[in-house]
Amino acid sequence: MFPRTAPRLALLSVLMSLLPGGLAAQDAEVQFRKSCMSCHTIGAGRKVGPDLKGLGQRRPHDWSARFIQMPSSLLDGGDPTAASLLREFNGTRMPDLGVTTAEALALLKLIDDTTAAGRTLGTAAISRPATAADIRGGQQLFLGLTRFASGAPSCLSCHSAQGLRGFGGGRLGPDLTGASGKLGIGLVSAIENPAFPTMQGVFQKTPITAEEAFQVGSFLKSISSQPPARTDMVFPVLGIVGLISGMLLSGHLGRRRLRGVRRNLKHRG
Ligand code: HEC
Ligand code: HEC
Repeated sequence: MFPRTAPRLALLSVLMSLLPGGLAAQDAEVQFRKSCMSCHTIGAGRKVGPDLKGLGQRRPHDWSARFIQMPSSLLDGGDPTAASLLREFNGTRMPDLGVTTAEALALLKLIDDTTAAGRTLGTAAISRPATAADIRGGQQLFLGLTRFASGAPSCLSCHSAQGLRGFGGGRLGPDLTGASGKLGIGLVSAIENPAFPTMQGVFQKTPITAEEAFQVGSFLKSISSQPPARTDMVFPVLGIVGLISGMLLSGHLGRRRLRGVRRNLKHRG
């Protein structure tokens, strides 16, 4: 049995390696941009996870393939390399992303080829502390008062956030007040390389820069640390002001309408 299938398997693998060669490389890069680049670069420095440049030199290939397919099994299984990486990255765990064996091998080839060519993929996280100007700039971008360099639509067209209710905000995406707490240090990369399908559709055509993502992220972080009590105070006050001015306005209009009716009555009479 074995001697007969072995040549066939060999033939099959030769055919497989001939057929989708170029395509596989392209697919791997698309997948890397979509699933990995929010946390990793190749050659541009560390982000949420390590810079993957030179991975092939520091880890055995089959270890990397196993890790990419199911990090949880190594992170939870007492693997010493995984444990020390987890410590180095402050307990941030790489999620299981449902990567198949074939995809993992193609991704590893992409990492090796990119390293060998001295090319870089991705941009490193900006690590300077956010200034008041960053936060203000981020708010302007969020609201669409400053345009993204690529012409991407403002965040407000699909999202709302605390403190912006005066501006309304889109309903297609969730309210982003808590996004910083939810995504933590991954927030800026998630904005720069969104993994969310609806956003991907828009931002793949008009990507935003690392600097713009940093500013919007800084703004979102600033509102998430606002004590909720403050907005609880502001909104009722705004509400009351709105109510009073509404009453004054309608009172005024009402009086005018009344006058008009009286005038009509006079004319008739
Ligand atoms: C949400 C962030 C995140 C995403 C997305 C992510 N990783 Fe990771 N990755 C990490 C972190 C953090 C580590 C360090 C180990 C740990 O703490 O889990 C890591 C470690 C690794 C390592 C080991 C690196 C080394 O130096 O040994 C490889 C390889 C790797 N990731 C590849 C990938 C690939 C390929 C993808 C896309 C399919 C991906 N990662 C997606 C966060 C991420
Ligand atoms: C075309 C509409 C659209 C635009 C424009 C848009 N988003 Fe989104 N965003 C969405 C949708 C829809 C989701 C929900 C996830 C999905 O895509 O399925 C989302 C999800 C998110 C999330 C994850 C929220 C969570 O709770 O997990 C973040 C963070 C985010 N967007 C930030 C932004 C920022 C910052 C901008 C501006 C640079 C922006 N988005 C612009 C539609 C948009």
